[in-house]
Amino acid sequence: MDLRHNTILITGGTSGFGYEFAARLLELGNTVLITGRNQAKLDDTKRRLPRVHTFQSDVSDPQAIQHLYQQVVSQFPALNILINNAGEMRKLNLQDPTLDLLDLTREVEINLSGPIRMVQQFLPHLKTQQTAAILNVTSGLALTPFPLAPIYGGTKAGLRAYTKALRVQLQPTQVKVFELVAPAAKTPLADPFAGVMDESMLMDPGKLIAQAIEGLQQDRLEIYPGLSRVMRYMSRLAPGVLLKQMSKGVIEAFAQPQGNVSAR
Ligand SMILES: NC(=O)c1ccc[n+]([C@@H]2O[C@H](COP(=O)([O-])OP(=O)(O)OC[C@H]3O[C@@H](n4cnc5c(N)ncnc54)[C@H](OP(=O)(O)O)[C@@H]3O)[C@@H](O)[C@H]2O)c1
Repeated sequence: MDLRHNTILITGGTSGFGYEFAARLLELGNTVLITGRNQAKLDDTKRRLPRVHTFQSDVSDPQAIQHLYQQVVSQFPALNILINNAGEMRKLNLQDPTLDLLDLTREVEINLSGPIRMVQQFLPHLKTQQTAAILNVTSGLALTPFPLAPIYGGTKAGLRAYTKALRVQLQPTQVKVFELVAPAAKTPLADPFAGVMDESMLMDPGKLIAQAIEGLQQDRLEIYPGLSRVMRYMSRLAPGVLLKQMSKGVIEAFAQPQGNVSAR
């Protein structure tokens, strides 16, 4: 698709992939809107990218999504692309008896319910546009479990399944449905996993998003930058070997006190 002259809403645009998307899509001549929960981070992003439009909004809060929709469509009626990017990943020891039942599924609300609700809210508007697209950011961890972050993988596998189903349902419409299957990258999300993930395996987020944009321009509905292409084949040809690889160090990591680490 043509990635110029669009109006694009990116959830979670203040760091990592969301920030890189915003910077590059602005350079290409698009109107770019970003969200995030932290107003100071939104203000800082506005300083660094003066042409970006910022909205404080929590993707895990259905009321906030309704409010965001009203603000965005009234101020930017040409909105035609939604990028569901906001997400978090937590290292969680499922044997920890102190885990709170409500907090335990926080990633589900952000990474899975968030995009589903965003699509539901914005789809009728996207369907009124001549060209429109939804991009959901999943992960190589949608292709294999990552036992250190057990809820995260579940959310990304769920988002991948939902994205495929959404694509089929929207076939009769002009709304294209893309999936970015992102590999591990050097962003704040990966910080709490330092020492567990091999630093040299982390992709540069700028390069990753450049490949994602190329994929969108070429209408590649599933985009596999860097190592996620390898994980795609491994998950089909040798899923057991891949899971074994992803399970390394898990027992040791949880043997230490402070085993649970949040990405926030
Ligand atoms: N980095 C990786 O290795 C990797 C690999 C594969 C897939 N991904 C996926 O890529 C996406 C972006 O990750 P990233 O690495 O760029 O993370 P990041 O640098 O931590 O950025 C996350 C962004 O999302 C926002 N955010 C988090 N929770 C939110 C919520 N409830 N509502 C609205 N905004 C929220 C954050 O801002 P606030 O905290 O201010 O809200 C921030 O702007 C995520 O979906 C992640 O799962 C990342």
